[in-house]
Amino acid sequence: METELSLEFLRVVERAAIASARTMGLGDRHGSDQAAVQAMRSEMDSVGMDGTIVIGEGERDEAPMLFIGEKVGAAARDKSRKYPQVDIAVDPLEGTNLCATGEPNAIVVLAASDHGGLLHAPDLYMEKIVVGPACRGAVELDATPEHNLRAIAKRLDRKVEDLVVIVLERPRHEKLIADIRKTGARIRLITDGDLSAGITAAVSNMGVHAVMGTGGAPEGVLTAAALRCLNGQIIGRLVASKPEHHERLAQMGIKDAKRIYDTQDLAPGKNIIFACTGVTGGNLLRGVRFFGDGTRTQSLIMTLDQRQVRFIDSVHLEKGADVKVRFY
Ligand code: FBP
Repeated sequence: METELSLEFLRVVERAAIASARTMGLGDRHGSDQAAVQAMRSEMDSVGMDGTIVIGEGERDEAPMLFIGEKVGAAARDKSRKYPQVDIAVDPLEGTNLCATGEPNAIVVLAASDHGGLLHAPDLYMEKIVVGPACRGAVELDATPEHNLRAIAKRLDRKVEDLVVIVLERPRHEKLIADIRKTGARIRLITDGDLSAGITAAVSNMGVHAVMGTGGAPEGVLTAAALRCLNGQIIGRLVASKPEHHERLAQMGIKDAKRIYDTQDLAPGKNIIFACTGVTGGNLLRGVRFFGDGTRTQSLIMTLDQRQVRFIDSVHLEKGADVKVRFY
């Protein structure tokens, strides 16, 4: 599955990134998301798979495309052969506000796995801690930030003051931010995008040692898919604070609302493909660049079983008569 499909998914995320990048800075977050969704949906139709969306734009009645349960891929049209069954999780535009305002770090994301390989997470919040390979097993969700940061510092053989933690800037994180500051660790506050932040925590030399706080649960599953490929760790717990949240969990067959999920629980698949493309330039990936004759994109494609992590720089040439391609 990984060999056959990874480059096909590259095409899907690249197309969606180019479409949404055209809307950068227009101040229309829904328009930006729609552009990504439409491009992703139409490109996905030609992928040789029998795909099912398990994390997408929401339920069928609220999302016209890429809704949970929607069938995607060539199998829907072509009954003449058997295609691999694949579960698909998408965040067509992670950081809709970032794209709408032209801020860094908006990305297009897709993860695929064999059937049952990605948790069908409800669209709730999730408390999360993300760390890189050296710190796997060192942190606990219910421990204090001080305890966790000391454990991370020990694993990384440095002082707590030398750590950088990414936290979403939200009123709900006031205490967390104050607690981290008390330890002396440094903080990078972000306005959106805890998924790409989580990936940076698992890639060395990015100057990020952990991501802490509460963000979207679907983003948590996508982060887990990436971290399985990068040997990092995410631990998380769904936030069910209202009766309707508990109803939603019951509908989805989740019995223990307080369960702490580890990376492997969120993305248990044996085969995982993770693909993302930068929309606006950021820490992890460059954004889409339009240069008249064509377009340039940067993507990250990872496969678990094949153990490949590929940063892919693509030049998409228009059919101009006199096309010039520049080295970086
Ligand atoms: P969208 O791009 O889908 O809007 O998500 C952006 C994001 O910042 C995620 O990265 C994060 O997990 C979530 O929103 C946080 O939610 P909220 O903005 O409600 O705090």
